[in-house]
Amino acid sequence: MPFGDAPAEIMMSQFFQFTDKALRRLSWLGFLWPLRDLFYCNWVLACHPGMQERALWLRDPAELFTLAGGPPELFPSHQNPLEIFRFIEFAQTKNPRTALEIGTACSGTNFLLAQAISSLDLILGVDLQPRNLPLLHRLTRRGVQRVMIKGPSTSLSVVEKVKSALCGRKIDLLFIDGDHTYEGVKADFETYFPLVENGGIVAFHDIAPDFRTRFGRPTERWAGDVPKFWEQVKVTHRGVQEFVENPDQDGLGIGLFLK
Ligand SMILES: C[S@@+](CC[C@H](N)C(=O)[O-])C[C@H]1O[C@@H](n2cnc3c(N)ncnc32)[C@H](O)[C@@H]1O
Repeated sequence: MPFGDAPAEIMMSQFFQFTDKALRRLSWLGFLWPLRDLFYCNWVLACHPGMQERALWLRDPAELFTLAGGPPELFPSHQNPLEIFRFIEFAQTKNPRTALEIGTACSGTNFLLAQAISSLDLILGVDLQPRNLPLLHRLTRRGVQRVMIKGPSTSLSVVEKVKSALCGRKIDLLFIDGDHTYEGVKADFETYFPLVENGGIVAFHDIAPDFRTRFGRPTERWAGDVPKFWEQVKVTHRGVQEFVENPDQDGLGIGLFLK
């Protein structure tokens, strides 16, 4: 376990969970994110001196997943572990060198992909509010360049920043997990598909319909219109694969095809 359970640590983790919730609700306080992230990074590394070294050397997806998502669950990947492990296993067979994740949330998946897919040397992330950047940068393995970009994924300025970070290279692995409305996921796909290398992987998260869609029962999971878009887009591409642990589950699931 990366984090201990001493009373002081439990109190600190509750404090960070509280600030996360507050910052998410009170968007005008969003400018405090960098301060909170810096504080959190220093706290985690100070409490767990061996963690940085361990994270930098770990390659096993399951161990990395536990490390990022272990208590106090502030650096988690929002993925079903079995699905993301199978996805990583598949991605590794294609030896991607560049990756772009749209919608990075707490940065847990960005961390996982960069550490576990050994062929990557450049990983980009885009989010309206990238989180945990100081910790993420401290946990970036040598040989990997990481660029995290803040802003709406399809805005001209963000697309320009992505292109500039790519320095003329193409994207070998595109992971779309941002705006889950139909227009949003379609726009992400149409914006970034042209930047994907021929033969590259184009993946979508949340291809499984959530309970809100299937039963009219909202839960904390929100796959939105991604399943609808996925059903349409997958029929026109080759090499389709779906990683869905349980067909009856509430959202999640990863779908991919090859460009
Ligand atoms: C489901 S979360 C991503 C989870 C993450 N990929 C993971 O596996 O841990 C969706 C993220 O997309 C971001 N997002 C939503 N709309 C966006 C947009 N138009 N541009 C950039 N990011 C967006 C949100 O801020 C949120 O952090």
